[in-house]
Amino acid sequence: MATDSSPKKSLSCQPTDAEALRGTVKGSFAYFTLKDRVPTILVKAVNSLVQELRSHAPSGLAEVDAKRCISKISQLTYELQRDREISELEDSGNDSDVWNALIKEQTHPTWFATTWLFAECFVYRKLQEIFSLSDHWKGYDAFRTDKQASLMSSLSSINIIVAQLVVDKTPDCAIGAINERTAEFLMFSLWGNQADLSLFTNAPSTNSLHAESFVNLHSSKERLLVDDTISFIEHLRSGEKGRIDIVLDNAGLELFADLALAHWLLSTEQATSVVFHVKEFPWFVSDTTKSDFEWLLMTLEKHFESEQPAMLRLIAQWKGWLDNGQWKIQSHPFWTLPHSFWTLPRVAPDLYQEMAHSRCIVFKGDLNYRKAVSDSMWPTTSPLRDALGSLCQENTPALLFLRTCKSDPVVGLQSGQAEDLSAKASDWRTNGRYGMIQFQGLGAAIQF
Ligand code: F6P
Ligand code: MG
Repeated sequence: MATDSSPKKSLSCQPTDAEALRGTVKGSFAYFTLKDRVPTILVKAVNSLVQELRSHAPSGLAEVDAKRCISKISQLTYELQRDREISELEDSGNDSDVWNALIKEQTHPTWFATTWLFAECFVYRKLQEIFSLSDHWKGYDAFRTDKQASLMSSLSSINIIVAQLVVDKTPDCAIGAINERTAEFLMFSLWGNQADLSLFTNAPSTNSLHAESFVNLHSSKERLLVDDTISFIEHLRSGEKGRIDIVLDNAGLELFADLALAHWLLSTEQATSVVFHVKEFPWFVSDTTKSDFEWLLMTLEKHFESEQPAMLRLIAQWKGWLDNGQWKIQSHPFWTLPHSFWTLPRVAPDLYQEMAHSRCIVFKGDLNYRKAVSDSMWPTTSPLRDALGSLCQENTPALLFLRTCKSDPVVGLQSGQAEDLSAKASDWRTNGRYGMIQFQGLGAAIQF
């Protein structure tokens, strides 16, 4: 992997004037996540293996192997809950050296004392290690069943999006109408981010939350804390048309809404191609892997068969774009490392240079936002550009963040806005009801 694993430099890219979040702060969302949410997620992973054994009755050896995985997951949960030292990886992944160098450089390498970002990301990398060291469960996705069930429970929201794609999609309709529709597709993609299976660990689905946002896009505007839609549209309209990158987040409904946005931008000639960035292994429960992407196309095609020709035409067109290269699915180990995006140009220069060709990089979801602002408690009125630190360099394209708020970091608010929100709901930063459409145009590097 073309990354710079130099221990001194790798995690040192934290903002100086904003504190990184840690699980040691009792009562914080980070503390609650490590204490309760992550252990619940690990229990789900165990249950999925148990279910697999029950329903597929694999060979004796595979069963023994699965039990070994279950015991390792239980051990991981035990060590996390008791705030033990984080142990190095023993597999031979292309990123293992990077992770181990990061562990070695930590002064307090326990689960709660390290940064929240590192600890939470490492949980998913440890799961990956457990399965990769097994004989029969390599590549196993313990969250696949949940991801698939979540897509099937979102079909009504998917139908709403499809209906919008079918109406007025010709490129020759008036610019004003196209802009209005672009704004709507941004909203679908944004509110699709409520469908994140890692936040709602106790709920069977997030249906009610996103259905509310999808059915009435207009009223969901009131829950937008920042809305830079116009700056994004103006950026697309100015200069030469080009490629858009979407750093995907969750599979299922959110992925479908992202594909719809990509479809809209391409078919209205606001973009010439779209690159989708997926995760290399199961990540934060519901993040999209290449196989989730392929499964979505296959399932919708099968599910709708001949009864919904509009959906079938859509899927055929998307497959055509994947075949002719106008759509590309790409992955890179950087997306499953715990680094702040401040380090992207230095830690993954190959990826950074490649993405520099984009007209705009769209970052989806809460975790990408946390990484972009170095997962720190910035004052809420800090300008976005300050919080993006060294991600903004000379070659950095325009950036767009579509994120529903599910963690503490928030920047770019007006003065007094955070206070008003706190008066309405003390958990406004984390309850998933509020959204942000935040745009950073092109700009020269800032010196830190
Ligand atoms: O648990 C941490 C966290 O970043 C939450 O803030 C959020 O619920 C989840 O993980 C991931 O959210 P998303 O799928 O939007 O990145
Ligand atoms: Mg996610």
